[in-house]
Amino acid sequence: MPRPHPPARPGGGFPAKMRMRRLRRTSGLRELLAEHDLPVRRLVYPMFVRPGSGAPETIRSLPGIRRYAVDDAVRHAGDAHGQGIPAVLLFGLAHRKDPRGREARDPSGAVPRAIRGIKRLWPDLVVATDVCLCAYTSHGHCGVLKDGRVDNDATLPLLAEMAAVHAAAGADFVAPSAMMDHQVAALRHALDDQGFSGTGVLAYGAKFASAFYGPFRDAADSAPAFGDRREYQLDPRNGREADREIDLDVEEGADIVMVKPALPALDILARARQRHAIPLAAFQVSGEYAMLKAAGRAGALDEAAAVMESLTVIRRAGADLIVTYFAPDVARWARRSEER
Ligand code: PBG
Ligand code: ZN
Repeated sequence: MPRPHPPARPGGGFPAKMRMRRLRRTSGLRELLAEHDLPVRRLVYPMFVRPGSGAPETIRSLPGIRRYAVDDAVRHAGDAHGQGIPAVLLFGLAHRKDPRGREARDPSGAVPRAIRGIKRLWPDLVVATDVCLCAYTSHGHCGVLKDGRVDNDATLPLLAEMAAVHAAAGADFVAPSAMMDHQVAALRHALDDQGFSGTGVLAYGAKFASAFYGPFRDAADSAPAFGDRREYQLDPRNGREADREIDLDVEEGADIVMVKPALPALDILARARQRHAIPLAAFQVSGEYAMLKAAGRAGALDEAAAVMESLTVIRRAGADLIVTYFAPDVARWARRSEER
């Protein structure tokens, strides 16, 4: 039997003398001893790029986020860069959809043009791109269909080709989010074969079939026309299965592994941090953003404080990088607190 912990005796023997509050007494001490930070240089800003021209389009469920035509996307990415945000993650929209998502592989599509525009003006801004078919397929699934189901192995070469098109345009990272088995290996091989060994794979190691992607599907016009994504995305009830997905992506040659959504999967992130030395990213997804925005707007909580707390605990759980729609806000808040 373990001995029971001795009772705390104020002014008494050993255990009672430890007073945790001593380290929290003044703001100087709290700053000195804070374990984690949220530097702007750890943030990745997700952006929606659309074909065609015209003014940025607002997205009802994502207040503050817009879909940009290519030139505006380039400018907006430059603004983010100017705020100290080191990286963007580009999501494309399609002009014309078809069952195989042809436009996803078009070198003159919105995303490749945006990459080239950004790299011409701001070569230091790190550009990552989403690699998935759902915004380009007429049925809205992340891969091609066979007999009404998503065909894993027939999808792999299409994802690989999309990634190579982005790499050729100058992307630093390609981020396959389709949750097809072996997609990381397929991309890695295709990139190496085509002379893009310097382009990295930012793997969505664990991507859950989450209700928190709702606003994104409005933004990218990528909701599945039938069924859902549970044949390929992870069941939120399963943690060990998520661990295995992450381990496989590391084995397949991922350079960075991402967990998504962020707060609803902090346990998976923390476990991945213990198992792997690889850089880890967390994606604070559209629904997490929308939830915080709505609660802030309703006066239910202090938006900036709630956002900073959420992002800081994602760091505490083990994220090196955080993909967040709040990136420009965080950069602005950080500047303001420096000025004080
Ligand atoms: C596309 C994709 C999605 C997200 C990132 N890539 C949506 C989905 O899987 O339906 C979600 C991002 C967000 O909600 O912010 N495969
Ligand atoms: Zn998809």
